[in-house]
Amino acid sequence: MKILVTGGAGYIGSHTVKALRNEGFDVVIFDNFSSGKQRLVLGGTVVRGDLNDRKALEQVFQEHDFQGVMHFASLIQVGESYQDPQKYYRGNLVTSLNLLEAMLTSGVKDFIFSSSAAVYGIPEETPIPETHPLNPYNPYGQSKYFVEKILEEYARAYGLRFFSLRYFNAAGADPEGELGEMHDPETHLVPNLLLSLLEKSRTFQLFGTDFPTPDGTAVRDYIHVTDLAEAHVLAFQGLQTGAKSGCINLGANQGYSVREVMHRVEQVTGKSINFVTRPQRQGDVPLLLASNLQAKQRLKWHPQHSDLETIIRTAWEWHSRV
Ligand code: UFG
Repeated sequence: MKILVTGGAGYIGSHTVKALRNEGFDVVIFDNFSSGKQRLVLGGTVVRGDLNDRKALEQVFQEHDFQGVMHFASLIQVGESYQDPQKYYRGNLVTSLNLLEAMLTSGVKDFIFSSSAAVYGIPEETPIPETHPLNPYNPYGQSKYFVEKILEEYARAYGLRFFSLRYFNAAGADPEGELGEMHDPETHLVPNLLLSLLEKSRTFQLFGTDFPTPDGTAVRDYIHVTDLAEAHVLAFQGLQTGAKSGCINLGANQGYSVREVMHRVEQVTGKSINFVTRPQRQGDVPLLLASNLQAKQRLKWHPQHSDLETIIRTAWEWHSRV
């Protein structure tokens, strides 16, 4: 069974490629390496290509007989999406349209999409169920929302089968130590905390201490990247065996504040964090917490690695080594 994985040299993509290969899938990675890393490619066939290049896409579908596509390639910085929305609509929306066109033209119907909790905007209810209204408030979230809507239309009109997987906060690293997070610039909480312990020149910046939460810092639902990867394999297997298309949250249904994460990082590493407090980042919401009932029921997904300590320990092992 052969699968095309766009963004397979990125953080979540590379962990999913590993999970797919462990399950015996044949994987073709399509990545332009603008943020993907050669170091995160452990195997599979690599096609260095860009989703804006429709000829290159056409060619990859002509050369391989795919049973499905997993689409990870994406721009992911919320702040940047405010500054340059055009970049995000081109980079996340137009590229998805190109990919869908190439895949449908060659008769491939099964599609797994990397969506985001950002489609919900400011939650009106927590834990957030998939039925929550969608009010994305930044171009990054909008771009994910638009693709979700397009997938629904394409399912109705062209028989596409899909799962949009709405990630909460992906974190942690491959428990076998082969893969981990390598963003440049790094904006995420767990790696920034760990890098501040490893690189003397870096001071951790704590963004926002005046949120309406018990300790004033923002609460998030951290989900281990290996559990995310597993969910993609299950979602794809579901599509292949007739599961109904839809949108599914991937979170641990556990909320931790930034201060709680800082405290746990100090416990796991035995080091104390040097930090400065800063104003809230533009667009950060106080609380994001997933309901993961749908993932458990529909995908038979059971996160194994998503307790905060395992997340931090695996990430620490990775960052201490790279
Ligand atoms: N934070 C800091 N300092 C840092 C990094 C983060 O204080 O150096 C804080 C943030 O302000 C936020 C929390 O830690 O309150 C989590 O921040 P992350 O950047 O790790 O994650 P976000 O919740 O902002 O972003 C995640 C995904 C995005 C996605 C977004 C949807 O990483 O890709 O959820 O809301 F767009």
